[in-house]
Amino acid sequence: MTVLSVENLTLSYRSGREWREVVHNVSFTLGRGEMLAFVGESGSGKTTTAQAIIGLLADNARRDGGSIRLNGEDLSQWSAKRLDSLRGARISLVPQDPGNSLNPVKTVGAQVGEILRLHQKIDKAECEQQVLALLSKVGLSHPEQRMKQFPHQLSGGMKQRVLIAIAIALRPDLIIADEPTSALDVTVQKRILDLLDVLRRESGTAVLFVTHDLALAAQRADRLLVFRNGEVQEHGATADVVRAPQHAYTRQLLSDVQGQRVTIAPVSGRPLASPAIQAIGISKRFALGKGHQLQALDNVSFVVQRGSTHALVGESGSGKTTLARILLGFEQADSGQVNIDDINATSLSHEARRQLR
Ligand SMILES: Nc1ncnc2c1ncn2[C@@H]1O[C@H](COP(=O)(O)OP(=O)(O)O)[C@@H](O)[C@H]1O
Ligand SMILES: [Mg+2]
Repeated sequence: MTVLSVENLTLSYRSGREWREVVHNVSFTLGRGEMLAFVGESGSGKTTTAQAIIGLLADNARRDGGSIRLNGEDLSQWSAKRLDSLRGARISLVPQDPGNSLNPVKTVGAQVGEILRLHQKIDKAECEQQVLALLSKVGLSHPEQRMKQFPHQLSGGMKQRVLIAIAIALRPDLIIADEPTSALDVTVQKRILDLLDVLRRESGTAVLFVTHDLALAAQRADRLLVFRNGEVQEHGATADVVRAPQHAYTRQLLSDVQGQRVTIAPVSGRPLASPAIQAIGISKRFALGKGHQLQALDNVSFVVQRGSTHALVGESGSGKTTLARILLGFEQADSGQVNIDDINATSLSHEARRQLR
């Protein structure tokens, strides 16, 4: 059964007085439980096409022609109000930019709960249960505490997971996921993509997966649609496209992926006299309200030698940025010491720290 059918879609952006066509005659269909991946380099029209489908084109964009049908109904003729009622319930979007897609003055729990209560007759307690279940599903630890937090208290990857929770909340017919895992580390990324697979199997949800990562698309999608300069360059079953690409451009994309390898940077030189940075027993807690606390850093120590590159690696939310901010003196540690060039930076006055920076 066809969930989404797009025919000859053509879209333009206005800059000044000029309209510039950026998506040209794009056509495809998407069946129940199926995953179609939009791949192609940045600027090729993937996001614009995705936004048109869910009726969220930018103010300076317009549809010049073509049709968009959801379960046979032509959405391009629908009013903004009717589209609003559809969004979340039958079609949902995980937007590309998690940064400004959440309401800054509402807690995470309120925002996930809002969509649940808008479309279901449930009481507060039931709503809270569902919010907790959704937040754990998308891999957020301490969901009881997270739901009381505001977006600015979350890392980019956590915000992305909240947006995914909102998008899957009502098990819609179609989920459009625009680079949904770009801010996530590989373990969380796998969890999210597995979650989408479960929805496809259990609820027949169709997924339109937008990504610049052809390797990831090939692993997950039933079919690939390759965009180039706003046109469909290639469209077919994943195995066919990967095994026998019809166009030189797709062959090039594929060879770029196959050449992918991880190289480990060589250790640079032997350590010189005094280290550039010494972090000694750094700990940091954040208050979460109502007496709850989050241990962001727990007794972290390490040394960075002069002239070397030191990598802080870890899942989103594991404390990397907080640590970097403490090293720079933008944030105060609860305990521990930071030496920069053998100077105890933790003990400096505000002005001296600024000078050091
Ligand atoms: N709000 C906008 N105003 C004007 N041009 C835009 C806007 N958003 C995207 N574009 C242009 O439209 C084209 C397609 O962009 P986009 O759909 O974002 O591609 P992708 O998602 O594949 O990276 C690009 O040329 C881009 O510069
Ligand atoms: Mg995009």
